[in-house]
Amino acid sequence: MIKIGNVEVGTFPLFLAPMEDITDSPFRSICKNFGADVLISEFIAAEGLIRDSWKSKMKMQFGEEERPIGIQIFGSDVESMKKAAVNAETVRPDFLDLNFGCPVRKIVMKGGGAALLQDIPKMIRMADAVVRSTTLPVTVKTRLGWDEAHQEIVEISERLQDVGIKAIGIHGRTRMQLYGGKANWALIGEVKNNPRLKIPVWGNGDVDSGQKAEEMKNQFGVDGIMIGRAAMGNPWIFREIKTWMEQHVFAEPPSLKERVEIVRKHIQSAIVYKGEHTALLELRRMYSGYFRNISDFKKTRMRLVTAPDFEEIDKILGELSH
Ligand SMILES: Cc1cc2nc3c(=O)[nH]c(=O)nc-3n(C[C@H](O)[C@H](O)[C@H](O)COP(=O)(O)O)c2cc1C
Repeated sequence: MIKIGNVEVGTFPLFLAPMEDITDSPFRSICKNFGADVLISEFIAAEGLIRDSWKSKMKMQFGEEERPIGIQIFGSDVESMKKAAVNAETVRPDFLDLNFGCPVRKIVMKGGGAALLQDIPKMIRMADAVVRSTTLPVTVKTRLGWDEAHQEIVEISERLQDVGIKAIGIHGRTRMQLYGGKANWALIGEVKNNPRLKIPVWGNGDVDSGQKAEEMKNQFGVDGIMIGRAAMGNPWIFREIKTWMEQHVFAEPPSLKERVEIVRKHIQSAIVYKGEHTALLELRRMYSGYFRNISDFKKTRMRLVTAPDFEEIDKILGELSH
């Protein structure tokens, strides 16, 4: 049994990787139903969390059925991260996750996310301070290093373990690669095979099928896998991966009826969660994923993204499944 601190997360946990504006509570719950073992919130700015901003409060909400769940925070200031951790603990997640991997310019320029890969002593100080300020297990999600010449993840992982980090999720790219090229799983494997490293290692990057997940597990020995983009508009990916890894058969792909059902459920709970206007806007980008491989979908997609309210969307979805 793999554990994050004292929290049991299964024998080979599949994580829904955190994604801003995508992995909110409604979508996370859907993924959980299709087999995601561990969920993590979207990243939450430490500064916002300390101010008790409305946005960070929203992002910290989760349902009991989502457990085990982590709250992910990011920031550039050690004191703020400590305070944010104390604040996040009040909603009783199962663990806290520190984001040391976000490559987005706006975040990095302010010293958060992947910027910490350029100042490893500060990253370690920050991790140490957060670990000491909370009773929750603390994990880290990061990348291989800042750029090709600085892929220091083997050493970084050891140092994070030494200050009490309980698991590390590694996206197999550098900050400078952003999302380009192919994820380098060989280096994730090196981290895992470092005999000094005892904490679980979650591999992340480009996993989009059961075969790929199994290959990464067998080849690189990771303790679990995080799935991000392949889950966008495709929560069935978790069922697909599990079925393949457990039985070596292809899961039945979702029927059109099932897709419509899940989209409807997703929109309905998103409306409850964030209001009709925001929910409909944010879900626009999910339709192509949900209805991939449906022939002649372009016209219907246009109708869905321009529909003024849920009533209209519901009507279009009804037509689709008949
Ligand atoms: C739209 C989008 C938003 C993301 N937001 C976050 C985030 O809030 N926190 C985080 O740790 N990673 C974030 N990521 C990175 C993913 O968690 C993941 O590491 C990355 O997409 C690689 O995995 P994949 O190849 O399975 O997508 C984001 C990625 C995307 C595409």
